[in-house]
Amino acid sequence: MSTQQYIVFSSSLRHRSVWSVLSPVFEAADITLEESLVNTHDLEFHLPDQDISLRAILVTPSCLEDASRQVTLTRAEQFATVNSSRVKNSHLAIVFLLSDKAFQTARGRYRADGLVSLQALIFQSQSASGLPIIPAAEPSTVLASVQEHCNALARGPISHPSFPPPSPLSLLEYVVTSGPSQLPAKHNLNVLSDLFPSLRALSRAATTPDGRQLIVDYLGEDLADSIQAFWEQEWNLESGTMLNYIHIFFLGFAAVLGLVVYRRRSHDAQEPPLVTSSIPIFGHLIGSLWYGIPYFGKQAEKYSMYPMISLDLIVVKIYVISSPSLMRSVQQNSKALSFDPFIEFSARRMAGLPASTIDLLKSKQASGNSLFSDILHGMSPTLLGEPLDRMNERMIRLLRPFIDGFGSSTSETIDLYEWIRHAVTLASTDSSYGDMNPYKDRKIEDSFWDFESYLSPLIANVLPWLTARPAWKGREKLANALEDYYHKGGHENSSELTLARFKIPRDAGITLRDIARLEATMAFGLLSNTVPAAFWVLFDIISRDKLLEEIREEVRQNALHILEDGTHMIDLADLRDDCPLLISTFQEILRKRTSTSPTRFVTKEVMVGDRYLLKEGNVVMMPAISIGRKPDVWGSTHDDFDARRFMKTTTTASENQTEGKKDPRRVGGFMTFGVSPVICPGRHFASGEILGLIAMTALRFNLLPVGGIWKGPKTNAMAIASIMNPLKEPFHVNVRPRKAFEGKRWDFSVTEGKSKYPLVIG
Ligand code: HEM
Repeated sequence: MSTQQYIVFSSSLRHRSVWSVLSPVFEAADITLEESLVNTHDLEFHLPDQDISLRAILVTPSCLEDASRQVTLTRAEQFATVNSSRVKNSHLAIVFLLSDKAFQTARGRYRADGLVSLQALIFQSQSASGLPIIPAAEPSTVLASVQEHCNALARGPISHPSFPPPSPLSLLEYVVTSGPSQLPAKHNLNVLSDLFPSLRALSRAATTPDGRQLIVDYLGEDLADSIQAFWEQEWNLESGTMLNYIHIFFLGFAAVLGLVVYRRRSHDAQEPPLVTSSIPIFGHLIGSLWYGIPYFGKQAEKYSMYPMISLDLIVVKIYVISSPSLMRSVQQNSKALSFDPFIEFSARRMAGLPASTIDLLKSKQASGNSLFSDILHGMSPTLLGEPLDRMNERMIRLLRPFIDGFGSSTSETIDLYEWIRHAVTLASTDSSYGDMNPYKDRKIEDSFWDFESYLSPLIANVLPWLTARPAWKGREKLANALEDYYHKGGHENSSELTLARFKIPRDAGITLRDIARLEATMAFGLLSNTVPAAFWVLFDIISRDKLLEEIREEVRQNALHILEDGTHMIDLADLRDDCPLLISTFQEILRKRTSTSPTRFVTKEVMVGDRYLLKEGNVVMMPAISIGRKPDVWGSTHDDFDARRFMKTTTTASENQTEGKKDPRRVGGFMTFGVSPVICPGRHFASGEILGLIAMTALRFNLLPVGGIWKGPKTNAMAIASIMNPLKEPFHVNVRPRKAFEGKRWDFSVTEGKSKYPLVIG
């Protein structure tokens, strides 16, 4: 039995006012004090006469004030989680002190209130609710209280804070508190769990009139709406079942795997703080499966008090950054924090290439780079200069007949998203693949969108032909069609882009079959972002009457030419050079609508910002929702929609006190087209296509949503190749040609050398 008596305290305690009253107490008791950099707990007591150590976090009433409660809860959860695999005879507790400062003046009532408030706070948490609280009235009683607690522990047995298994109630809590409206409080959850014995029963009730009425009777309309919306949006997948079999399969698989792996994982105190979810262990994995990539941005926003957090997804840890300066640090460490493993990952999981081809793609070429990298770099020049002009000409020639057909009758109802998707798919792929474009076949076009829309289960790669059937079938059909295209020599009469993507791997010895597989994933670049971006740009302009009129007028005055034969001609170069409001609005919509989260893989252990340790094998994410909308970059209007934001190059900076305050072209500013060194090479092509489509459509037609309300439709979390929130459902509008332009002939023109847009990039 040890008789040595000492306390290890965290350096971070020195910065808290409570330390000035607590340290004299320890010194007076003649206890050895050791300082530690570990900050997941504040104190570690090694008291005499017991072979026990006790780790504690120190909570005072100021930690329970409104502004600090969430931080305190997160800290307690992190403390409980990080220390969950404790060594024998090491215990955890919260030491609750009466006051940061005036200990001696505080009285009983206040103390009781604080204690109740702390209990209520940690009671909310699955992970922290098991932590014992050691109250201490006066500084001089801290040691005695801790000693008493340790005596009780030594007498044992005493239950450790444990992680209860996910129960229906905890899942239910997750469902309703993570749902869109976040209405229900704890007692609502209890009522729900009393009314419905299982989630299945609740899901059935939420979608039937009788069941809904029952919820309304007990909890009111708002909550019933909220639950119904949640089920419709997130749980009722196409099959109509609450949890489809794919999810059940994944969750079951993850559960088994998780139980094995979880016990072995550790979290270093220098890694970014580990934040937990209300569902223990699996919460973040479930959250990311349900919400897709935006989940990480939501977590960064929720824990915005930390510049970087860690989320444990069981098989991998995700480090999520919300600070522009840490993002810069990631960019400066591009070797240790690299994008390359994702290219390999996508070739393996998305394209389904065999290991031998992946090895070839990874092999070093004469350029000194990998074949992967040669293919990527080979694309950039084909999307600039003359090759870009040629692609634009072809793309815009194809787009116009679609717009002509748009309002062919006096009043028509169409699914706007489907219309944009079809038009952009054909115009983009035709300009890339030429006359023998395989996407001209509607079945092949649909195959790609099946592949795209169900991508997340496909890349999970668990019997993909079974668990991700639509995506797997779609990819196989598309790859077959592309192989056929190469066999017939379609690429010989195509764009520089398609030729380069064929020639470079072919010269390196890759088979036609595998080039076709690789090419099937090219449409993620070509289409996955352009289609939803075009939809949201149209939606966000047309739903704002005043802005719509201003843009129409700008385009009419500066980019519309009426030729001698009466043709109404829109020149893409004029849109670029003489329609600043349109260009600025376009970028503002991309800024606001993107869910991008540039990703890097930790290839070797590294410190970022001299502060956080990132461990090899994990993943870094930099969500635009937390980094790209900071007030120190965008000024006080960072959260607003400001159509003119990109017209003014200095205004935001004048509000901005930080250095480098030139204009929005700053790292951590505009992230929609990527952040250096991974910047989208297709951004000019996409911009020309979207702006041409929007300018002509807005000028020629009036659009009104069916039902009269511009309400953003639901988005598809499974389409994870896209950072522009593609839709999960149709969006129906009534289309009417505008009187002023009805019956006119329309066309586009492209001016050589003017296809490159002066866009902001990160
Ligand atoms: C509005 C439309 C588009 C948006 C918002 C967009 C966005 C992006 C972003 C954010 C990245 C970086 C990926 C990352 O950091 O994870 C990227 C990369 C890429 N994009 Fe785009 N993109 C668009 C259209 C296009 C088009 C039309 C093409 C092809 C013609 C294209 C081809 C690519 C390629 C090949 C890469 C990979 C670059 C590399 O790994 O170095 N994109 N895009």
